[in-house]
Amino acid sequence: MTFDESIARDQRIEPADDMPEGYRRTMVRQIAQHAHSEIIGMQPEGDWITRAPTLRRKAILLAKVQDEAGHGLYLYSAAETLGADRGDLTRRLIEGQQKYSSIFNYPTRSFADVGVIGWLVDGAAICNQVPLCRSSYGPYARAMIRICKEESFHQRQGYELLITMMRGTPEQRSMVQDAVDRWWWPSLMMFGPPDAASPNTAQSMAWKIKRHTNDELRQRFVDMSVPQAVSLGVTLPDAELRWNEERGHYDFGQPDWAELKRVITGDGPMNEERIRRRRAADTDGAWVREAAAAHGARLAGVA
Ligand code: 3HC
Repeated sequence: MTFDESIARDQRIEPADDMPEGYRRTMVRQIAQHAHSEIIGMQPEGDWITRAPTLRRKAILLAKVQDEAGHGLYLYSAAETLGADRGDLTRRLIEGQQKYSSIFNYPTRSFADVGVIGWLVDGAAICNQVPLCRSSYGPYARAMIRICKEESFHQRQGYELLITMMRGTPEQRSMVQDAVDRWWWPSLMMFGPPDAASPNTAQSMAWKIKRHTNDELRQRFVDMSVPQAVSLGVTLPDAELRWNEERGHYDFGQPDWAELKRVITGDGPMNEERIRRRRAADTDGAWVREAAAAHGARLAGVA
C-alpha cells in the first residue's frame, strides 16, 4: 500500500514505511517541539516543589513533574524512530532553532498557579493530545495514549487543589482568581495561531497528523472550561465570553496574537530563564551521558 493509500484508509504510518520527506520533517518538528515543551514545562511547577504547603501537595507535584520528564523522554524516543538524535534536538532547542510551547514562558507567582496550570494548561493539553492518539504516525499516536492517561491525573489534581483553595480564606480565593486571570489567555494561545494564520495546519490535516484544526480545539477547550470555572466560582477574564445558542458553543474574545508571536520568538517574560536553565542542565548532565555511553560500549564489547 502506498503512503497516500495508507493515509486515505486511516492506516498508521510506521517507521519502516515509505513516507514523503515533508511528512518525516513535519513529524520530527512536531514531536521534537512537543518533547521540548514537556521538558521545559518541568521548570514552572518544579520551582514550587520545595515550597508546597503540605507533604501531600509536595508528593503530588513531584509525581506530576516526574511525569512531564517521562513524557519528554517518551516523545524523544518517538522522534528517534524517524532518524532524529535527541542530543541534536536538545542542541537545536538550546540554540533557539526549535520551539517549545509558549505557555511555559510565564512566571508561576503563587501555589495557586500550580492548581491553575493543572486545570487549564493540562486541560488544554488534553484537548490537544487526545485527538493526537489518532495521529497518522504510529509511534507518536501510541506515545499519546499513555501520556493522555497521565495528563488526566494532572488536570484532576490541579482542579482539586483549586477547589480546596476556593473553600479556604478570602486571600486563598483571590490567589486563585489572580492565577486564572494570568493563565487564561496564554492557555488559549497553546493551540497555536488562528487557522487562517497557521502555515502548517492544512498540510498536517491532509496527512492526518492533526485531526482537528487549532481553532476547533481552542473552541473545544473554551466550551469545556467555562462550566468548570462556574463550578469553581472563578470568573474568566473575557468580557466577550457568552453562550451562543445558535452555534451551540461559547463565543469568546480573541487572544493577543502579537503577544503569542513575541513569546514564540523569544520575547516572553521567562524565555531567557527557561533556556538558561535547560542549557545548564544539559552541561551538568554531560558526564552522566558520557558514563552511560562508555558503560554501554563496554557491555557491547566495543570499548
Ligand atoms: N507555542 C510555541 N510555538 C507555537 C505555538 C505555541 N503555543 N503555537 C504555534 N507555534 C509555532 C508552531 O510550532 C509553528 O512553528 P514551526 O513551523 O517553526 O514549528 C508556528 O508557530 C505556526 O503554527 P502552526 O499552527 O502552523 O504549527 P503546527 O501545525 O505545528 O501547530 C501546535 C502548533 C498546535 C502546537 C502543534 O504543533 C501541536 O499540536 N503540537 C503537539 C502538542 C504540543 O506540542 N503541545 C505543547 C504543549 S506542552 C504540553 O501539552 C505538556 C503538558 O504537560 C502541559
